[in-house]
Order: sequence, then structure tokens, then C-alpha cells
Amino acid sequence: MELVVTGGAGFIGANFVHQTVRERPDVHVRVLDALTYAGDRASLAPVADRVELVEGSITDAALVDRLVAEADLVVHFAAESHNDNSLSDPSPFVQTNLVGTFTLLEAVRKHGVRFHHISTDEVYGDLPLDTPEKFTASTPYNPSSPYSSTKAGSDLLVRAWARSFGVQATISNCSNNYGPYQHIEKFIPRQITNLIDGVRPRLYGAGLNVRDWIHVEDHNSAVWAIIEKGRVGETYLIGADGEKNNLEVVGTLLEIFGRDAEDFDHVADRPGHDLRYAIDASKLRDELGWTPRYTDFRDGLEATVEWYRANEAWWRPAKSATEAKYAAVGQ
Ligand code: NAD
Ligand code: DAU
Repeated sequence: MELVVTGGAGFIGANFVHQTVRERPDVHVRVLDALTYAGDRASLAPVADRVELVEGSITDAALVDRLVAEADLVVHFAAESHNDNSLSDPSPFVQTNLVGTFTLLEAVRKHGVRFHHISTDEVYGDLPLDTPEKFTASTPYNPSSPYSSTKAGSDLLVRAWARSFGVQATISNCSNNYGPYQHIEKFIPRQITNLIDGVRPRLYGAGLNVRDWIHVEDHNSAVWAIIEKGRVGETYLIGADGEKNNLEVVGTLLEIFGRDAEDFDHVADRPGHDLRYAIDASKLRDELGWTPRYTDFRDGLEATVEWYRANEAWWRPAKSATEAKYAAVGQ
């Protein structure tokens, strides 16, 4: 099988490529990645002999057309992915997430290629704290940030191309991922690398916002389950019942590092900060028989801490510039 993975040099995409190479010797992987600040050739180094990396943008219609023409399947991870960046400059989010997805859809339509679109639970907006309510595939779209609104728009493009043009597409909306190769701008690796440096973790606002954490390997096993067993035209929500508020996550990290429970700082809150995300993944579990492997968050977090300790050469070059950006906005 000829597989094109967009955004395969980013966090989830690189883990997906590693997992695919490890478990599916019949699949030939080509990565299309623009190698933005969030993409890193080094994330594919362990599988470099099995993977072809094409450096280019998903907004480049001629390049996309050439790669899609030779593919059996496109799995689309490429995106601008960080909410805080979308608040300081939304422009690349519109280009990559909307125009880039449109460009891919036109190519898969022309060449009749199966398409899987990776999306986020943030398209549904947020939920109140302390209610049993969770997102399902029929929750109305209600995105809050420039990031989530461009992801919502990209989902709607996929749905329209499936319905109007018969594009063979599936969509997955997943909750917050953690694990190896995540950029240190994101919450968990930012705090891990701060703690490695002896710096106190930074919590936005009161720290009561809830995220539904899933290990990246579980996200990617669910993506393969949808590709292989999912119904074309359908949307599947991916989550592993991992709700934690940000205070709890920082508390667990402080414990792992043997630091005092109060050893963190509250900093400026994110404007429009979504309160709570929670996924009802029963459709994925019941229809496709998928189950997560990483069911103990603390174990998964300890393994992730170990990965960042062992791979300082991978993250260190980005640390001071990332922190300087946060310092400029009081975070
Ligand atoms: P990331 O920022 O770590 O990686 C994004 C990758 O896309 C990078 O390698 C970057 O170079 C590449 N890219 C950006 N613009 C591009 C362009 N124009 N052309 C080609 N490549 C481009 O993101 P991530 O956290 O790995 O997220 C991957 C996908 O998963 C995104 O679609 C995101 O919306 C979705 N998602 C992420 C999470 C999460 O918790 N991180 C959860 C649910 C869904
Ligand atoms: O829900 C899925 C989404 O999860 C994905 O679509 C996004 O691509 C991904 O970035 C993530 O979005 P969040 O905004 O939830 O993730 P982030 O890591 O930026 O923040 C997680 C929580 O931690 C959020 O409530 C903000 C808070 N936070 C974040 C940072 C960077 C802090 O308290 N301190 C921080 O330093």
C-alpha cells in the first residue's frame, strides 16, 4: 500500500509513522511536511530508511496532486496546531488548516484516493465543569479559537466533499494527546522541560480547566482501526476516559520529579480559554472494537518524562525561543 502522511514530521504524525513502520511492513510511507517550527526531520530519524520525506506544503496544489496520484491512502495530520499561536497570528492557521485541507480534498477527489482527516474535539467548543456531559459525533460545532474554528472549517469541507463529490473520507476528532516528540510549547512537555531545568511549572489562570488526556499511541491505533474498519463518510470520536484538570497534571509531574506540591506558579490565563473537553468514544469502542492500551495516566506520564530526559538533544534547541514567546505575553 502507498500511504501519504501529511504532517508526518510533527508530534502525532511522527508517532503514527513509527507505529505504521513497526506494525505494517506492507505499507510504503511517504511523508509530506513543510517542516515548520513544529516539524522536525529528527522525529523521523529512527525510521529514515523506511520512510520518504518530501519537504513541501499541503497548499502547493501541483506537489499535492503529484503525490496523491501515486497514493492508495492519504492520512492528513498536517496543521497549525497550537491555540496560543493562533491568538497571536491566525493567518497560517487559515492557510494550512483550511486552504491546505481544500487542496488535498481536490486531489483525492480527482484521483479517487481514500482520505482520513485528523481533527480535534475542540471543534465542539467546551463543556461545563462537573457535569456528566461528553462530546459525541452529534454534538453541534461551536469552536472558540482561531485554531479550533479553522479545524472545524476543515472538517466541514471534508463532509461536503464526501457528500457532494463522493470522496471516500473518514474523520476522527480526538482529545488531548501526550507522549514522545510533542513540541515543548504544549502544556505537558513545557512543564516537563521546565522541571528538568529546575524551573517552576506555569499554570494558566486557576488551573481548573479539564482536558481528556490520551496517549499518542492509543490515538494512532484508533486511526488505523477507523481506516481499516470504519464506515466511509462517518465521524469517529477518539478518547480514553482520561479527564484531569491542569492542577492535577502539574501535581502528578511535581510528584514524579520529587518536588513540593506547591512548587508551581499561576500565570496569565489564555483569552477565551475552553473550560472542559470530554469524549464519549462508545461508537469507536462498540462499532470497531477499539480499546486503549495506556489506561494508567501516571505510568504514561512517567514514561513521557523519561523520554524527555533521554532526548534532550531533540528539544533543547527550541526551549529558549519557546519560553521567550511565552514571557512576552506574561505566561
Ligand atoms: P504538530 O504541530 O506537532 O505537527 C504539525 C505538523 O504539520 C508539523 O510537522 C508541521 O511541520 C506540519 N505542517 C504545518 N503546516 C504545514 C503545511 N502547510 N504543509 C505541510 N505540513 C505542514 O501537531 P500535532 O499535535 O501532531 O497535531 C497533528 C494533527 O492532530 C493536527 O491536525 C491537530 O489538529 C490534530 N490533533 C492534535 C491533538 C493534540 O493533542 N496534539 C489532538 C487532536 C487532534
Ligand atoms: O483537545 C485537543 C487539542 O489539544 C488539540 O486539538 C490541539 O492541537 C492541542 O494543542 C491541544 O490543545 P490545548 O489548548 O488543550 O493544549 P495545550 O497543551 O496548549 O494546553 C492544555 C491545557 O493546559 C490548557 O487548558 C491550557 C493549559 N496550559 C497550557 C500551557 C502551554 C497551562 O496551564 N500552562 C501552559 O504553560
